[in-house]
Amino acid sequence: MLVTGGLGFVGSHVCVALAEAGYDIVALDNLANARLSVLARLREIAGRRISFVRADVRDGRALAQVFRRRPVAAVLHFAGLKAVHESVAQPLEYYDTNVGGTLTLLRAMRQHDVRRLVFSSSCTVYGAPESLPLTETHPLRPANPYGRTKMIAEGLIADCAAAWPELKYALLRYFNPVGAHPSGRIGEDPLGVPNNLFPYIAQVAVGRRAKLNVWGGDYDTQDGTGVRDYIHVMDLAAGHVAALARLESQPESFTVNLGTGRGYSVLEVVKTFERVCGRPIPYEIRERRAGDLAQSWADATLAERLLGWRARYGLEDMCRDAWRWQSLNPDGYPERPVSAAETRRRRSRRRS
Ligand SMILES: NC(=O)c1ccc[n+]([C@@H]2O[C@H](COP(=O)([O-])OP(=O)(O)OC[C@H]3O[C@@H](n4cnc5c(N)ncnc54)[C@H](O)[C@@H]3O)[C@@H](O)[C@H]2O)c1
Repeated sequence: MLVTGGLGFVGSHVCVALAEAGYDIVALDNLANARLSVLARLREIAGRRISFVRADVRDGRALAQVFRRRPVAAVLHFAGLKAVHESVAQPLEYYDTNVGGTLTLLRAMRQHDVRRLVFSSSCTVYGAPESLPLTETHPLRPANPYGRTKMIAEGLIADCAAAWPELKYALLRYFNPVGAHPSGRIGEDPLGVPNNLFPYIAQVAVGRRAKLNVWGGDYDTQDGTGVRDYIHVMDLAAGHVAALARLESQPESFTVNLGTGRGYSVLEVVKTFERVCGRPIPYEIRERRAGDLAQSWADATLAERLLGWRARYGLEDMCRDAWRWQSLNPDGYPERPVSAAETRRRRSRRRS
């Protein structure tokens, strides 16, 4: 298996699940948002060799080299940029990486006859829900550049499969992945100020941030705060293994939501996290942020029907594992991302 973005938050957890399922893995990552130390931890948890290639998914030559060197039965494509607000300020980077990267990957797969693709899509492709829960047939009206890059990449993959029918794909629309591997060795380690609720709460709990800003306390929800479908990253990882198994056993493409099918409000998450970590999480209710939704959750029944998969973990498990990761690694992974130049310097130092 080739896992692009394999050292990132979701990709690293999927590598563990794939290794446990007996797959050989090559992880490819340009370390734009990951640390090299993830690799050693991955190998330690997975208990088997995971090869690593430091490369950009937009680099067709690097992909060709990977495909020439070893047999690759399928690609799981996680490499991408994912911050909604950043995508508004930097649309070119988002289109280049998320759409351009997928295009380059598809071209290399076609050239080397790699016929299976599992793609990380997102519930942001739906935009504001017309009805809840969100089913896969809900219209796609993404409200930001990030969501549009995911929608376009989905269309690009489907168009390629129409022209090259041997290509079979799974488009997995994630809801909100949270939590961490139960060992506490790998987890979510955002650069700078976290964009997402869980890592923010975890950093408040561990004392790295003073308080949580809750954006909007007057939504039409049970307690006025936003409601989202959070899914434990280990459940999400199991969903990828199930998707791959389905592509192997029944070569037909499909699109499914990966969520739990229920939503939790921000304050429910805060209270549960407080209970799990035994510390108060100070928070302040602030004005709503433009573009944020009141509530969103998945209809997760299609995934269950097609893949025989459903989420097993609840909110308490998500908070417990997020807290274990954060408390064992208060400052995240030990090193900051290593630049390509620094990697070259280290290599030549080792050689001399
Ligand atoms: N985490 C979420 O909330 C969420 C929700 C829905 C969908 N997704 C999608 O899932 C995928 C993985 O998300 P994540 O949370 O693990 O993010 P992440 O940033 O932790 O992982 C992405 C990985 O891709 C790498 N990468 C980025 N650009 C690259 C490039 N050009 N070439 C090679 N590697 C590159 C990064 O270094 C990182 O390791 C992304 O495509 C994201 O859009 C994530």
